[in-house]
Amino acid sequence: MSKSRSILELSSIIQQKVSIVDQTLKDNQLPPLSFDTGAPLSSQIPVSIEDTKYDLLEALGELQALLHGPLYHVMHMSSIVPNNAAVFGVLSKFDIPQNLGADECVSYAELGKRCGLLESDTRRLVRGAVALRFFDEPETDKVRHNAASLALATPGAAAWVKSTLRNSTPSALKLADALAQYPGSEDPRETGFALANGGRDFFTVLQEEPERAADFAQAMSMQSLGPERNVSYCVEALAAWDRVAECPRVIVDVGGSHGTLAEALVRRYPRVEHAIVQDLPKTVKDAKVPEDLLKGNRFRFMAHDFFTEQPAKDADVYLFRQVLHDWSDSKCVEILKSQIPALKPGARIILIETCAPPPGAHTHSRDIDHRIMDIAMKHHANGKERTSDDFRALFAAVDEKFEMVSIRRPPGSAMSVIEFTWRG
Ligand SMILES: C[S@@+](CC[C@H](N)C(=O)[O-])C[C@H]1O[C@@H](n2cnc3c(N)ncnc32)[C@H](O)[C@@H]1O
Repeated sequence: MSKSRSILELSSIIQQKVSIVDQTLKDNQLPPLSFDTGAPLSSQIPVSIEDTKYDLLEALGELQALLHGPLYHVMHMSSIVPNNAAVFGVLSKFDIPQNLGADECVSYAELGKRCGLLESDTRRLVRGAVALRFFDEPETDKVRHNAASLALATPGAAAWVKSTLRNSTPSALKLADALAQYPGSEDPRETGFALANGGRDFFTVLQEEPERAADFAQAMSMQSLGPERNVSYCVEALAAWDRVAECPRVIVDVGGSHGTLAEALVRRYPRVEHAIVQDLPKTVKDAKVPEDLLKGNRFRFMAHDFFTEQPAKDADVYLFRQVLHDWSDSKCVEILKSQIPALKPGARIILIETCAPPPGAHTHSRDIDHRIMDIAMKHHANGKERTSDDFRALFAAVDEKFEMVSIRRPPGSAMSVIEFTWRG
């Protein structure tokens, strides 16, 4: 977007695209979009019309900015950050969503009592949340859930919020200091996160503080089961594994956290005989093998630091989902080099990562997730989101015997499946 569109042009786009969304929901017998209690917690918009959804979000965002005007846009965009942190911080610390039953409508006095918070503070903070479309105040001084505050009460979303507030917010605020102090650094100990955490890098902190690690792992699992980054997209993108000749027998999920991806793959592709999920010792310590996969040793966890030589030799596939984006190019080269001693000819390395579009190639609404994630990776760990060319260059820098086989983004997925093979 370089030149502003007129508000009439935008409203006509909005009208046209909203009609498509509405008709598609009806044609597919899906419920109307709603934030009322009882509404589905995930968006029901079919992936077949994802372009329509993004065109609509783009037009809505542009219209909102135009209506605000440039100066108010500055004030609005910069002041929502600390205010949102304050609201979510209180909701999270005092478990406000969890202290309200799904079908209840209670006074602020009652809700405050349950949460250990003054009535007046409960009222102000929950009203702040209502303004952000969480909760509902159907009559003065009474509060009940809407679908968004109910979503916030789920353990995965609650862990996501906690992890964001505890890890990302202080880290983001220190990014400018880190850029001034360590220009060009690729070291995870020279980041906004490290400046906010006594010089310790992100994954060291998680290994040293089990509660933060547990929240992060739960947030990751929730993200893997939620929209846009749901593991089902990459699982289906590997449907070639339905063919006997294509299906790996042994897979290793490197940095696989609590194993959401590997479990989904093992269940979907019965010819996968053995899946190993590797992660840092404290992360795998809390991970559980699902009962039904214990039999036959089809699934197991292994403590392993991916900067050291890969101990699971001769597997058919090594998966890295949302791992490389945590690290700078030089660190990724170290990680990938550590895999080489384990690779047999024809072994595959499959990355599941967002593949960042070149700047300006997309609309703002599509770009925003990439840009937010890219900046988050920078201040957390000096990592980054990469384009397809970046991935090619990265593997070429590791060893010329790596060859990119394919790169594809399943419709609806924020992430791409990027396959390399080892021609060693
Ligand atoms: C962003 S999370 C991704 C987790 C999982 N692959 C997913 O997609 O949900 C990155 C993972 O890398 C793990 N990790 C970080 N440093 C590691 C290391 N040196 N060795 C092994 N795993 C590591 C973290 O514990 C974390 O589980």
